[in-house]
Amino acid sequence: MSTTDYGYRGMMVEYWDLLRGDTSKWSSRPYFIKIIKDSGEPALDVACGTGRVMFDYMQEGIDIDGVDISPEMISKARENADNLGLKPNLYAQAMQNLDIPRRYQTIIVPSSSFLHLINVADRHEALKRFYEHLNSGGVLAMSLRVMDPNPVEVDWEIDSEAIRPSDGALVRRWFRCNYDVDNRIQDTEDRYEIIKDDKIIHSETYISSPFLTWYKCSEAVEYLKQAGFIDVHAHSDFKFEPATDDDTSYIVLGKKP
Ligand SMILES: C[S@@+](CC[C@H](N)C(=O)[O-])C[C@H]1O[C@@H](n2cnc3c(N)ncnc32)[C@H](O)[C@@H]1O
Repeated sequence: MSTTDYGYRGMMVEYWDLLRGDTSKWSSRPYFIKIIKDSGEPALDVACGTGRVMFDYMQEGIDIDGVDISPEMISKARENADNLGLKPNLYAQAMQNLDIPRRYQTIIVPSSSFLHLINVADRHEALKRFYEHLNSGGVLAMSLRVMDPNPVEVDWEIDSEAIRPSDGALVRRWFRCNYDVDNRIQDTEDRYEIIKDDKIIHSETYISSPFLTWYKCSEAVEYLKQAGFIDVHAHSDFKFEPATDDDTSYIVLGKKP
């Protein structure tokens, strides 16, 4: 396993789409599209990964660009875009170093990806950059979640598996994690196996330590206010209803004055 400064790499990227399967019914999809339609275009999909959200929206005619820290995710996104006949603007950048020539009416950060920023300084810097990349009146919307570290250690379990279309091999992903509750850190391990004729013909393990952090809705609201956003509020679990600190899935939103 190679050491890189981005977490999503190798087999994690290669089998990301295959192991996720159909995501078209996920509740985040209609939620973020409404946010963009209400707030306006162009939009930026931060931590866009292989393009799940942005390509879907581009096919609906939405003007949306994408950025991700992982050059491997961006490369896979380009491949997916080619297959769909799309020509997206994609950038391999860390959100805390965001530096794109365009300004946006809406910035979305789906999939709790902001939680990959463990350091407070990185979170402040990323919010500052989002603010700078928005037009006046533009909206930032980030979906986040609160982990329930119970138990504090999860032993190896099969997370997902799928048949590789090219040769019919079984791709299996194992997962285990542990939590440092006091410091709100989740460490994860992913093991990928390629199985043919009941034999494991290839296996790789990826350690992400730290993987992500978490905080409550009221803390996220405070972060956005400190960064200069106004009309800061939170929705519960993609439902356009107010969130509270009891919500484990919420979206925090703010407007640039
Ligand atoms: C859970 S995946 C979500 C991908 C995509 N949004 C989706 O829903 O399919 C998290 C993504 O965040 C990206 N990421 C992690 N840290 C990042 C950072 N500091 N800046 C930008 N992207 C980051 C990873 O490379 C990965 O593609």
